[in-house]
Amino acid sequence: MATNKSYTVTLLTSNKEILWDQSKGSLLELSESAGLEPEHSCRVGTCATCATKLVTGTIEYDPEPFMEPSDNHILICCAHPTSDIVIEL
Ligand code: FES
Repeated sequence: MATNKSYTVTLLTSNKEILWDQSKGSLLELSESAGLEPEHSCRVGTCATCATKLVTGTIEYDPEPFMEPSDNHILICCAHPTSDIVIEL
């Protein structure tokens, strides 16, 4: 679990760069705090509605999703960055 760390999250489609730290929560919550409305439903890693392409960087899940999407997609409702990342959002 990343603590006391901050990473730059680049939202490619929205052309935004946001600083993430642990207080910002999941990538979905971070995006919402930046005024975006990413598609989502369950918010706990079961529906895959929030699947978003991870272009570069690394993430970890908390909580662990029930299934992981393929093709470099991540579930942003329960993903946190563990490096600077770029996502297609
Ligand atoms: S909102 Fe359901 S998996 Fe993310």
